[in-house]
Amino acid sequence: MASLVSLKVFIIALLEVISSSAQPLEARTVQRPLLSELPCSSDFGFSGELLGLMSGAIPDSDITASSSWNASYSASSVRIFSGSSWSPRVNENQWIQVDLGVFAAITGVIIYSDFGEVNYIKTFTVQHSTSGAANEWQNLTDEVGQTIQFEVSSEFWNGMTVISFPDALFTRFIRLSPTAWVGHIRLNMEFTGCRDIDGMLRLVGGDGHSGRVEVLKGGIWGVICDNGWDDQDADVVCQQFGLNEMGEATSLPLGEGEEAPFLMSRVTCRGTETRLVDCPLVCGSESLQCNSSRAAGVSCKPPRDVIRLVGGSSPTNGRVEIYQNNTWGTLCDTYWDVTDADIVCRQLGFSGAEEAKSGAHFGQGVGPVHMDGLACDGSESRITDCPSLCWEGTRCNHTQDAGVVCREGATLQKKESATGSGLPPHEFSVVTIDDYFFFSPSSDWIPPEF
Ligand SMILES: *[C@@H]1O[C@H](CO)[C@@H](O)[C@H](O)[C@H]1NC(C)=O
Ligand SMILES: *[C@@H]1O[C@H](CO)[C@@H](O)[C@H](O)[C@H]1NC(C)=O
Ligand SMILES: *[C@@H]1O[C@H](CO)[C@@H](O)[C@H](O)[C@H]1NC(C)=O
Ligand SMILES: *[C@@H]1O[C@H](CO)[C@@H](O)[C@H](O)[C@H]1NC(C)=O
Ligand SMILES: *[C@@H]1O[C@H](CO)[C@@H](O)[C@H](O)[C@H]1NC(C)=O
Repeated sequence: MASLVSLKVFIIALLEVISSSAQPLEARTVQRPLLSELPCSSDFGFSGELLGLMSGAIPDSDITASSSWNASYSASSVRIFSGSSWSPRVNENQWIQVDLGVFAAITGVIIYSDFGEVNYIKTFTVQHSTSGAANEWQNLTDEVGQTIQFEVSSEFWNGMTVISFPDALFTRFIRLSPTAWVGHIRLNMEFTGCRDIDGMLRLVGGDGHSGRVEVLKGGIWGVICDNGWDDQDADVVCQQFGLNEMGEATSLPLGEGEEAPFLMSRVTCRGTETRLVDCPLVCGSESLQCNSSRAAGVSCKPPRDVIRLVGGSSPTNGRVEIYQNNTWGTLCDTYWDVTDADIVCRQLGFSGAEEAKSGAHFGQGVGPVHMDGLACDGSESRITDCPSLCWEGTRCNHTQDAGVVCREGATLQKKESATGSGLPPHEFSVVTIDDYFFFSPSSDWIPPEF
């Protein structure tokens, strides 16, 4: 019964976290391999599911504390709502480590400070290892190699902090070391992520839209033989990354000193698959011998004439950019008015335009100016259906880039593409959520026993 109540409070807590996580405290851009979507999810605003400290899926024997394991010192009390919290013994290395039992994707950790006492950790670091061997632990670092000090809500001690790692961590063993605390170290925790991750992809060595394709199987990232690799296969890869772009098959030699096993060969997608590993391929170990030793890659490109808004304050406004001739370009503001803006907004799925903006109101773009002198009559469904000065060429430069402010609200038609969201295409933001909430115990709330 107590655990049911606890579960309820836990869920309420997580819902609170979602509502406040809309304003990340810290966001930055990093160059890391692009990862395909995680194969599991929860409804609670973090990526992945709860990995098992709460449910008990991780057995007590998999949770160890301090630098050495001692059976007389059980660390199982680290479990969220276990009734007590973990605190390290005096004069001992303060690591607490968890064996997930399988190679998994870990997306973050939830820290629950001691309820009712002023004992909480302020900062901690994370280490991970695929074998758990003493010399194989690595610090979780940021993009410049600095060990990340994760922060637990410092203002309020009776809260739950949901921490998202900069990128999913692929590992089996994970451990956590408090580095600053108030009172005594008291801690309950849960990890978030996914267990069944075979078939995930990553795109390595490119700009986030192109690169070598790597596939995960049994805890190993491997490459794909380019034997028979074509655009139809590349398309499935681009879709699996959620890019909503057209795939072009490429082929890349493994770099000097780079080693990766070939895990797939003669991949023959039919185009309807949602994951690359669902495509037919040559089975068995022979397929691992790739004669050419060239690895399959992709270059994902937006479809021609797709549009997006850039440089605005929200997805509803910005400089209009259109993808033509393999490159993003802008529209010139000659004759630019709200009728033209209306077509752009509708094409992006908004109900219409509030304003047409001229003179690079949202900043100057780069690359070509693709269209000039637009004179839509309002009946068109796409901006490329509108008359424009296409025989004249354009003398415009980016000081005349056109922009729009679209009306929020009812989306009349589906958004054309993910690239229409206004986000720059080659960046992905990494957000470290550092939130807290107040408990507002309901009448049936029973405090956990300590
Ligand atoms: C385990 O901890 C107990 C109690 O602190 C201690 O007596 C015992 O010597 C420890 N055993 C090992 C192997 O360290
Ligand atoms: C991890 O970071 C700590 C402190 O930042 C450092 O002392 C230690 O050497 C690092 N370990 C590894 C394996 O890099
Ligand atoms: C590799 O080459 C050999 C001989 O040239 C051929 O028999 C075999 O089918 C090739 N394997 C693949 C995976 O292309
Ligand atoms: C397409 O781009 C190339 C350069 O990448 C340029 O030479 C060519 O003129 C462009 N074509 C059109 C129709 O804009
Ligand atoms: C851009 O065009 C405007 C008006 O046509 C002109 O005055 C300006 O000098 C041009 N700027 C550049 C950098 O070419």
